[in-house]
This record gives sequence, structure tokens and C-alpha cells, in this order.
Amino acid sequence: MKDFISIHDLSAPEVNAILELAADLKEKQKNKIKHEYLWAKSLAMIFEKPSTRTRVSFEIGIWQLGGLGINLDQEATGLGTRESIPDVARTLSRFADAILIRTFAHQKVIELARHASVPVINALSDESHPCQALSDVFTIIEHKGKELKKLKLAYIGDGNNVCNSLMYAAPKVGLNLVVATPPGYEPDEPVTERAFADALKAGISIEVTNDPVVAAKNADIIYTDVWASMGQESESAKRASIFSYYQINKELVKLAKPDYIFMHCLPAHRGQEVTDEVIDSRNSVVFDQAENRLHVQKAILVKLLGGDNVQG
Ligand code: CP
Ligand code: NVA
Repeated sequence: MKDFISIHDLSAPEVNAILELAADLKEKQKNKIKHEYLWAKSLAMIFEKPSTRTRVSFEIGIWQLGGLGINLDQEATGLGTRESIPDVARTLSRFADAILIRTFAHQKVIELARHASVPVINALSDESHPCQALSDVFTIIEHKGKELKKLKLAYIGDGNNVCNSLMYAAPKVGLNLVVATPPGYEPDEPVTERAFADALKAGISIEVTNDPVVAAKNADIIYTDVWASMGQESESAKRASIFSYYQINKELVKLAKPDYIFMHCLPAHRGQEVTDEVIDSRNSVVFDQAENRLHVQKAILVKLLGGDNVQG
């Protein structure tokens, strides 16, 4: 793989290889075993939207691998305004070994990758958040084991970038998924079509419904995200009323299996998509999810840049 832009672009063996390497890197980090597979490699990071987890985990991650991450000042770089996207891509490719971008239009990620001679990583676009979804699968395996075909993941809320990436990830790892959104807020149609086709081939089920009860019933995992994503702030009030029936609260999680886990990519809007009671409960694994961003993204970086130097 040259870039990491969408989970749909990866084969199931590629996904598994990243997850296995992530487990190994996590173990090495915990035991303070040197693993500088990316010694002297560098990552240029462009953030056109805010970030805590993604920025910190990538910056610390590449440092732990022996390399360097540089956060570009978005105003100063002016991707597509001060300088054209192709020219920024060509220039950064002369300095850095990889480029990461968090932006609005997914097309911008694709254009950057087309003109960059080094790997480009999608660190969230309006269409998808593949680093998040892959880390989430890693977290699910840690808590629920590798037999994912026996599990039901219920994503309840907005059919947004995180939801799209989970739709792409589920067939790659053989996980059953039910998505429940208000009418009109379903995941993107092209994504749904591709995910349905992949699910058929993988022998798992993906269902999209408007009923959160159908999704939550007997779920092993309940997942939600903010109702208004970055860039949709002006719709917050309208969405808060439309989505209120989709809140993850004590009543809804009673329908799930008693040992269900609660997941959220964070940041969370407590009291909106999830109550304090649920996100702070023993079933919640949200900070494991956050931590695993570090380990899984290190594996992505090594696969993109380090290749054969990796032992084990
Ligand atoms: N989940 C996630 O991507 O968090 P940040 O927006 O803080 O990077
Ligand atoms: N859907 C959210 C995810 C944040 C990590 C957003 O795009 O704002």
C-alpha cells in the first residue's frame, strides 16, 4: 500500500497485518523494548481541523519509532490558497518521508496523495476516519477476542465519517454491524453500497436502520459519536433535537448484552449523544480506544515506511 486513505482500499490480510504489528508494538512499548523501526524518518502533519488524540498520538508515535513529526501551521502553509495542493505535495515530498492530513473535503486528501511521491495518511476527512476505525477494531479484539463473527457492533447516531470507516472496516475483519441513524442522517450512499457488497463477500451482516432499539438489542458493542461533526457547528441545535431519541443512556444500554462495551472516538459531548452514567461506567472503554490510536498508527507508519526492517 502506498497511502492510507480509506480502509476500503486495503485487503483483509493487510488489515490483519497492521493489527498484528500494532499488538507487537504495544507490547514493546509497554516493556520499554527499543523499536526504532523508523529511525530518522519524518512525518509532515497538516491539520485543517482541531485535534488532540490524532495529533499527539502521531507525533509521539513517530518519535517512539525513532523519527520526527512536524506539525505544519495551517494558516502559514495555506494548502490550496497560498500554494496549490500539487505544489505543496511535491515540496513536502522532498523533505518528509510521509504526509498526514486532516481536512474537510475528502477530495483534498486524494489530490494531495496523487501529487505526493511519499505516502499520505488520511487523519480524518468529512468522508472518513480510517485511523480511528482501525484502532477501534484493535480495541474490540482486546476486549472481546478474535472471533468477531460472533459479535454485533451497534453504531447509533450520525452516519458520519467515523460511521463510514466502521462500515468499511467491518467486512475486512468479519464483524457484524448495525447502524441506527435518524432518517436523512444515514451513512453516505456510495459507502453503504460498497460496504454491503463487501459484507456479502465476507459473510457478515451490515444493516442500516432508523431504530436505535433494533441496533442496541443484544449488542456486544455500542458505539456513538458527536451529533454535529467539526464543520457542522451551526447545525448543533437543530441536530440536538433531531438526534435526542438516539442518545446512549441507561435505558438504551439495558437492551445490550450485560457485558457489552461502550465506545466513542472522542471528543464526547456529554449529556448529548451519551450520558455521564454510560461513558463513565465499567462498560466504557473510551480511553483504551484513545490509547490504541498510538499503537495502531505506529503500525500504519511502519507498514507505509519501514517495511522489511521489522522483526516479529
Ligand atoms: N478521535 C479523534 O480523532 O480525536 P481528535 O479529534 O482529538 O484527534
Ligand atoms: N465525527 C467527528 C469525529 C471527531 C474525531 C468529527 O468529524 O468531528
